[in-house]
Amino acid sequence: MTQTAAVELVDIWKRFPGVVANAGAHLRIDRGTVHAVLGENGAGKSTLMNVLSGVYRPDEGEVRLDGVLHRFHTPADALTAGIGMVHQEFRLVPSFTVAENVVLGAAERILRRQDVEARVDELARRFGLATEPDRPVWQLSMGERQRVEILKALWRDARILILDEPTAVLTPNEANELGGVLRHMADDGRSVIFISHKLHEVTGFCDVATVLRGGETVAASLPVAGTDAATLAGLMVGSTSLAGERPPARAPGEVRLAVSGLCALGDRGLPAVHDINLEVRSGEIVGIAGVAGNGQRELVQVLAGLRSATDGTVDLGGKDVTTDPPRRRFGSGLCYIPEDRLGVGLAPRLSVVENAVLRSYAQHRRGPFLLEASMTAHCQDLVDRFGVRTGPLGDPVAGLSGGNLQRLLVGRELGSGPGVVVAAQPTRGLDVQGVKAIQDLLVAERDTGTAVLLISEDLDELLTLSDRLLVMHQGRILAEFDPRNSERSIIGEAMAGHLPEEGAA
Ligand SMILES: Nc1ncnc2c1ncn2[C@@H]1O[C@H](COP(=O)(O)OP(=O)(O)O)[C@@H](O)[C@H]1O
Ligand SMILES: [Mg+2]
Repeated sequence: MTQTAAVELVDIWKRFPGVVANAGAHLRIDRGTVHAVLGENGAGKSTLMNVLSGVYRPDEGEVRLDGVLHRFHTPADALTAGIGMVHQEFRLVPSFTVAENVVLGAAERILRRQDVEARVDELARRFGLATEPDRPVWQLSMGERQRVEILKALWRDARILILDEPTAVLTPNEANELGGVLRHMADDGRSVIFISHKLHEVTGFCDVATVLRGGETVAASLPVAGTDAATLAGLMVGSTSLAGERPPARAPGEVRLAVSGLCALGDRGLPAVHDINLEVRSGEIVGIAGVAGNGQRELVQVLAGLRSATDGTVDLGGKDVTTDPPRRRFGSGLCYIPEDRLGVGLAPRLSVVENAVLRSYAQHRRGPFLLEASMTAHCQDLVDRFGVRTGPLGDPVAGLSGGNLQRLLVGRELGSGPGVVVAAQPTRGLDVQGVKAIQDLLVAERDTGTAVLLISEDLDELLTLSDRLLVMHQGRILAEFDPRNSERSIIGEAMAGHLPEEGAA
């Protein structure tokens, strides 16, 4: 007889407006294992974990713990049932000590500070979580704060620990230490769910891996010992052998975007982009593939002027813009479709009209006055041309669905008649119709002679749209492929860091 699973998620569906985040996902976790839940951004990992930890109620599907059906209404219900979530944004009180934070909110009867500290210390040692119980949290590094979050869950005797992308905030050394802690917890008979898209961590720390793609489970409980990073990368990006129909390419024209020897640091001050060289010509789409976290985000930010280069140059239409701020780059013909729609791209509290004219206020101004009629007409034109479904144009833009937000954003940017488009994850999180609409807009833009740099984690999308495809790994361009006749498995290998024998850039 097989062991009853510690956790069983059966056929979980969770829909948000315009998005199916979980589409019949399954997950089965055994006791005493470290189980990776792997998938690209938007695959539905966090949503599934939020279902398991009582933050969301699924539209359909079952949550079973040790074979028993549970219906959680709140995270507290899930915690009572033994599920502890280590949040990515730590919820600690900075002025409290480690021990105070660990016991905060727990039904605790010991009041003597020394006793609490001694018990926290004992727990910490048992699991190899080096920490000082009497230190205030504001003095701690990110890695130490994370250990406090883990201690909080252990203090409440969580049998199932969920860590959602825990290494995103850690240095490589801290990440390795965390791997050791996860092993301690599994050896203690607990189940650890480790969410990541970093393949070497999955192969290094985990026993089994479940891969999600597009909200579905595409591989369930694969023993990590019997697989490798390239196989996992292939599963994450999909295994369909036929890319969609390729729109015919025109002959590319002059170089519009030239990047040379570009280097930049990441948020933690460590090198994130190393010596990038690339060119994008008028009338071509150059795709950049890679597993998330390999410097794509930082590269895009440097191109947009939102992050400074530590070395190298960026040329727009023959003009060096390396030190130009974003607005000046826009003036030089760069349009930037950011990954973060609400936030960087659109201002959620401003109206549809105000967002539509964010780039072109000057055209709708007479002296100090804004011309409302002119702004509204411009907005209506964008809405009509790009098929944005919206309520009253004076309503806040935050009320639009994901697909319509993206159409408005892409429409506004492309409407400026740019020479170069940098599009970061432009279709992430959209439904099929929305994806098609945005992809068609990008191809149409290319066909008017615009140079398009497309950064995506969706290999199908890249194979369909790109005229040339570059693979980024650990901040470098590792290889270049012709999307018309390259095997996905070889591209997948390159995404996992293995240099192909032919076609290397
Ligand atoms: N609260 C929410 N409201 C609307 N859409 C959401 C919400 N949470 C997640 N989504 C969408 O659901 C999809 C899956 O998201 P998520 O579970 O966060 O993926 P992952 O953690 O794998 O990156 C994405 O398209 C995301 O935009
Ligand atoms: Mg997530």
